[in-house]
Amino acid sequence: MENSVELRPRAVLVTGGAGYIGSHTAYALSCEGYNVIIIDDFSQQQTVLLPFATVVAGDFADQQILNQIFTAYNIEAVFHFAAFIEVGESVKRPRLFYENNVAKTGTLLGVMLDHGVRRFIFSSSCAVYGEPQYLPMDEKHPTAPVSPYGKTKLAVEFILQDYAQAYGLEYAALRYFNAAGALWELGLGEQHTPETHLIPRVLDAIAAGEEIQVFGDAYATADGTCLRDYIHVQDLAQVHIRAFKYLQNKQESLVLNVGTGQGHTVREVIKAAEQVCRRSALVRVVGPRAGDAPVLVANTMRMREVLNWQPQHSDLIAIIRSAQAWQRVRRHGSIHFASQNTHHDRG
Ligand SMILES: NC(=O)c1ccc[n+]([C@@H]2O[C@H](COP(=O)([O-])OP(=O)(O)OC[C@H]3O[C@@H](n4cnc5c(N)ncnc54)[C@H](O)[C@@H]3O)[C@@H](O)[C@H]2O)c1
Repeated sequence: MENSVELRPRAVLVTGGAGYIGSHTAYALSCEGYNVIIIDDFSQQQTVLLPFATVVAGDFADQQILNQIFTAYNIEAVFHFAAFIEVGESVKRPRLFYENNVAKTGTLLGVMLDHGVRRFIFSSSCAVYGEPQYLPMDEKHPTAPVSPYGKTKLAVEFILQDYAQAYGLEYAALRYFNAAGALWELGLGEQHTPETHLIPRVLDAIAAGEEIQVFGDAYATADGTCLRDYIHVQDLAQVHIRAFKYLQNKQESLVLNVGTGQGHTVREVIKAAEQVCRRSALVRVVGPRAGDAPVLVANTMRMREVLNWQPQHSDLIAIIRSAQAWQRVRRHGSIHFASQNTHHDRG
């Protein structure tokens, strides 16, 4: 309706909002007063309660569902988390990844533009850079992704650039390094199938008294193990809110590294997990994995300047403590604070 005043509450669409980073960001968006609409096909087999959002179970590229959502709600922006994320799997089954991560994203962008929605916040990845040519990596670092997964992320970034130029899309491509930690108090945390991320794997192994494999200890790092940049998922959620505000205020697109700029080696992570769990880990060093860069650390200057913000929750111990609390919530359905800090039951 021309010249009509929009009376419906401000809404946002969050694809993959039942997933790890999407659910934390959906919660943060609801705290900002947005009517949060989640679309997720639950392909991670996750069980999650999302009382702060309206949840639509379905494929994020289902045009019928999308048309209904964009018609029914006053969507101001789309936060696009939904994707397949397992790098090794992308090497074996690239077709699935190009279909889900690239082709379907094209469909989503087409439908949202048809409905006059122009703001898009995209979950990109440091995987777009490939092998580091210098460290820490800034946003000008050459992009030469190694895995099909990384290539799907870069392919979407190319689409976004062209759509911004031609159709006035305003986007933020957020190149996350490693998301970690949990907002366990709300029943939110990491649940990937299979879980390939270091922190939940280490915590699971310690809780079960099982061995942790360390892939290589002769890299050029302080203790020989690979070093990565971990950001707490709560901080990551805040980056999305701030990037969205940037798009609203500046009406120009944004490509940002999202990390802390600090790295931790695999051994440091294991040591911190032992400290939090008050139990020793059983560690076995095996051969290095093909394609693992020794060090991946973000240069986060641009993120800090542009968003006028810095991570608040990303101390390694704090990250691991929250991840461990989440692990206990998953195992037991509840958490006992006293036992967390005073004795070492097997969880
Ligand atoms: N976890 C990290 O450290 C990390 C690092 C860099 C980039 N990313 C990117 O961030 C995003 C979120 O990652 P995550 O760790 O939360 O992953 P996740 O697997 O927990 O969440 C992804 C969600 O998308 C849903 N999904 C996948 N395909 C779908 C489809 N076709 N239709 C509807 N829903 C679909 C899944 O069910 C899942 O809930 C991904 O795009 C990932 O590539 C994650």
